[in-house]
Amino acid sequence: MAASLPIPIYTSLDEVYSSLGTATNHAVRWNDLAEEFENRFGRKPAFIARAPGRVNLIGEHIDYALFGVFPAAVERDILIACAPRSASSYASYTPASNEPSMEQERGRVADPEPLHLPGFVVAENLRHEKYPRKTFAPMRGMSTSKLLDEPTEEDVRAEEWMLDIDKGRLAWESYVKAGYYGVLNRFFPPTSLVTTTNPHPIPVDMLVTGTVPAGSGLSSSAAMVVASTLAFLAVNGKLQGISKGELVEMAMENEQRVGVNSGGMDQAASVISTTNSALHITFFPKLAAEPIPLPGSVSSSAASSHAVFIIANSLVVSDKVVHSKTRYNLRVVETLVSARILALRLGISVGKNEKVTLREVLGRWLGAKEVKGGQEEVDVEKLRDGLERIGEEVEKLRPEGKGDEEELGVTLGEMIQMSGLSEEEFNELYLSWVNVEATHFQLYKRSKHVFSEALRVLQFRDVCLRSATSSITTQSTLEELGALMNESQESCSKLFECSCPELDELTRLAREAGAYGSRLTGAGWGGCTVSLVAESDVDSFISKIKKAYAPYHNLEGEALHEVIFATKPSSGACVYKFE
Ligand code: GLA
Repeated sequence: MAASLPIPIYTSLDEVYSSLGTATNHAVRWNDLAEEFENRFGRKPAFIARAPGRVNLIGEHIDYALFGVFPAAVERDILIACAPRSASSYASYTPASNEPSMEQERGRVADPEPLHLPGFVVAENLRHEKYPRKTFAPMRGMSTSKLLDEPTEEDVRAEEWMLDIDKGRLAWESYVKAGYYGVLNRFFPPTSLVTTTNPHPIPVDMLVTGTVPAGSGLSSSAAMVVASTLAFLAVNGKLQGISKGELVEMAMENEQRVGVNSGGMDQAASVISTTNSALHITFFPKLAAEPIPLPGSVSSSAASSHAVFIIANSLVVSDKVVHSKTRYNLRVVETLVSARILALRLGISVGKNEKVTLREVLGRWLGAKEVKGGQEEVDVEKLRDGLERIGEEVEKLRPEGKGDEEELGVTLGEMIQMSGLSEEEFNELYLSWVNVEATHFQLYKRSKHVFSEALRVLQFRDVCLRSATSSITTQSTLEELGALMNESQESCSKLFECSCPELDELTRLAREAGAYGSRLTGAGWGGCTVSLVAESDVDSFISKIKKAYAPYHNLEGEALHEVIFATKPSSGACVYKFE
């Protein structure tokens, strides 16, 4: 239901943040952005696209196995001010920095820039001086340079928009381009551009700012892609008729162009979230999102029973793109291969070309029928029961004769042999689309994490729902939630190996400082933790962590608030329209 709603278009800030108080806190940023846009581009923006970051409360690295997750949007967000460019607007345009233009970078002299070209983009970023101004235009493949009156299906498939995303290098504009791909491919199929009847993508100026720290596990990359998709939709007049679910799908598909095969959690949380609730997001058999009120957001007289989530940044920057070979993308491959091998060991049939996921294997094991386009739905009760029982079956993936935890992996050769595929078939199915590097693949440990984490998500959801119906949050409710968060951290650290010493330390310190529970949030290997803390203890909790965690020792005031802060569920992505 939440996923089928339209993208909100607002004309006042209190609608954006759903409360006047919060809107007032953000008004200065929004005004500054609009003024800076006018200074740089000589006219007012037409729209500001907003997409928030997210904190995942529980359910890590299971979205790409198609299990449900439990995030909430945070107030920190990415804003993109934008406006279509007309001949008169580019006449007054002066670049704000000395960065080379697209044409100059390619070694061609081009002055002035081809600002009027269809779909030409001038993108500037206020977030950091290391993010230079960028200009680019979508290119079509060679064969469309001739006029195609009646393009055949073949022609259409042969064409791809080209925006030159460099997967080997981290570049801020890659996320803007990723969003642009979605809009171009959906609304301006490349061959249609050369027929006379179809409109061209509009040239656009954009200015980016934001408060979601990059590489911190709060999903700044998905927020960038969602905001960019929204900005291009808005300037091209294509917002009407797009549902939140469709926007999530566009953003998911296009973020993968940057080089990480991420699941859909971040995009769904950024787009579908609402204030005061976390989201239970499921991906299978189709995307669905259920808002779940969090304990503490219901009224209760006992102050000590109110709780808040506190985000703390380990200050270890982890970039999904840079390390994808040995971390994120490797985990995607390990979980997919473990699904195939587990299915074989459970006597479940899997097609030769089928990249089956652990969620689908569980469904088949539970007897869910295959229906057109997927599998029939399995209700939450049955799923919980299945997850409780399948833990034992995962032991079938444990390599024989290997007792030591460290040695539980298998080599590539062993993995291929276990998969029942030839080397060629295996490479085609699991390795041709991704670049990964490992001497041993940890199929047993990864799948053990995925099933147990998927079960914890359902248990976390149950506790929240129970507490919402009784409208009283008791200590034991918070303890139950905290225990699930701690188990999740343990599993991420030991089985999924996506933690790091600093995250292990910070979560331990959080527990010692009185948190009910604490865990890493997001992809891990650095970035942030999330801790559940009694509202009455927030100040003392923060000062204890400041004293105990060495990287915080010299931080005071705003600098400290930048790295450790309480958060409440915020509203999802939207477009603000200037009138
Ligand atoms: C990143 C990805 C998400 C998800 C998390 C781990 O944030 O973008 O899709 O896989 O890691 O839970």
